Amino acid sequence: MKISVFGLGYVGAVSCACLPELGHEVFGVDINPLKVRLINSGQSPVVEEGINELIEAAVKAGKLKATDDVEAAVLNSEISLISVATPSNPNYTPNLTAVDAVVRSIGMAIQKKSTHHTVVMRSTVQPGTTEDRIVPILEQAAGRKVGDRLSLVFNPEFLREGSSVKDFHNPPQTVIGSVDETGYAVMEKMYAGLPGAFVRTSCRVAESVKYLCNVFHAMKIVFANEAGSVLKACGLDGREVMKIFCQDTQLNISPAYLRPGFAFGGSCLPKEVKGFLTLAREKDIAIPALGSLLDSNQAHIDQAFDLIARDGRRKVALFGLAFKPGTDDMRDSPLVVLAEKLLGKGFGLAIYDNFVKVSQLLGKNKEYIDHEIPHLDQLLCAKPDDALKDAELVVIGHADAAARQTIIAKCQGLRVIDLSGYADIRSAPGIKYEGICW
Ligand SMILES: NC(=O)c1ccc[n+]([C@@H]2O[C@H](COP(=O)([O-])OP(=O)(O)OC[C@H]3O[C@@H](n4cnc5c(N)ncnc54)[C@H](O)[C@@H]3O)[C@@H](O)[C@H]2O)c1
Repeated sequence: MKISVFGLGYVGAVSCACLPELGHEVFGVDINPLKVRLINSGQSPVVEEGINELIEAAVKAGKLKATDDVEAAVLNSEISLISVATPSNPNYTPNLTAVDAVVRSIGMAIQKKSTHHTVVMRSTVQPGTTEDRIVPILEQAAGRKVGDRLSLVFNPEFLREGSSVKDFHNPPQTVIGSVDETGYAVMEKMYAGLPGAFVRTSCRVAESVKYLCNVFHAMKIVFANEAGSVLKACGLDGREVMKIFCQDTQLNISPAYLRPGFAFGGSCLPKEVKGFLTLAREKDIAIPALGSLLDSNQAHIDQAFDLIARDGRRKVALFGLAFKPGTDDMRDSPLVVLAEKLLGKGFGLAIYDNFVKVSQLLGKNKEYIDHEIPHLDQLLCAKPDDALKDAELVVIGHADAAARQTIIAKCQGLRVIDLSGYADIRSAPGIKYEGICW
């Protein structure tokens, strides 16, 4: 394929170096004449392991040229990759001045060709940018609509500076958002031969994935550093602890706990977080990120309350009270906190939890609930139907399959707020469904 690459910085230069290896012919474009000259003389404009050799070989083989002539690059290619910088505005939104200018100039060149052209956004932008901002600019400049010999794709770049050539050849996955169907096929062809899953999704999702990856990586670093600082203050080697920690690929380094849903609770997580914060305080170690975990968790419970309260004060059927399904342990359950807040604000409440029977509660669990919701026995219903009898709104913390069947059958036309993400409830016809994070 013939590919033009706009922006010869870290991302663009790696594309220029690596795409010829996949058999493509590449035209690099930049407004900086020095970068153009460097590429044409077989040198890399950025420092990266292995990049100089690849650029030199591609230029020698006639597979890579650089230019400042946008029109020539577009007319000589079928795909244009946009990897110009998106630095932060003063309020930290990405500055799109360079992206807008490049899209406009590519569009104007496309107007001069009759064959199909695919424009690919690689710069990091906020969710919605490609569809809401780039589509109109491109369509206006190109004089044709996306879908009419024109494709528009968002393809996030996951490479890490320092190992970007290796990362290009071994991507964790290739994520493609496309405004039109043809865009996916074009990208599959362009990346043919690379390992890793090829994921087709919307531009908005692809844009979000890229953002979240960087935020998650930052969060991991902060976690390791804050944890390591406290451990060192305790006379321990933070690296040794984290090495063993990372060997748990079932619960720690895994998708566990990474599905958006309701707040954490139960007899362990809040207690251990509080204990670790106390340890850090005793050792005078500042851990601002870990120190905000409990506030963040409470904010999530408040968000659920706001969602419920949006329609005014109603009679609410709450499914699930224990901190997770299949147990009657209500200690530090976020659903108890939510129930208390609803009661305190004057909501009517009927609760169903298959595993919670007031008469069978014992010990600390009984003490806890006697203190938090002393009249729980009057609110608890024996059957899902009983909880739904007068309900004007249904909130699902968790519910077993039988309870969910009853909800689906009995809640036609009712607003159902799902804190857990049950696929059967979500797809049930006739329910006014809303998820807490979806
Ligand atoms: N650096 C990374 O590791 C990395 C990784 C993933 C994603 N990204 C994202 O990719 C984008 C590019 O990042 P980068 O680090 O390569 O940026 P960079 O600053 O190194 O390079 C951007 C290049 O674009 C050129 N440019 C600006 N306006 C232009 C125009 N109108 N026409 C042609 N060229 C133009 C600049 O001269 C510069 O050479 C950013 O959105 C960044 O957030 C970067």
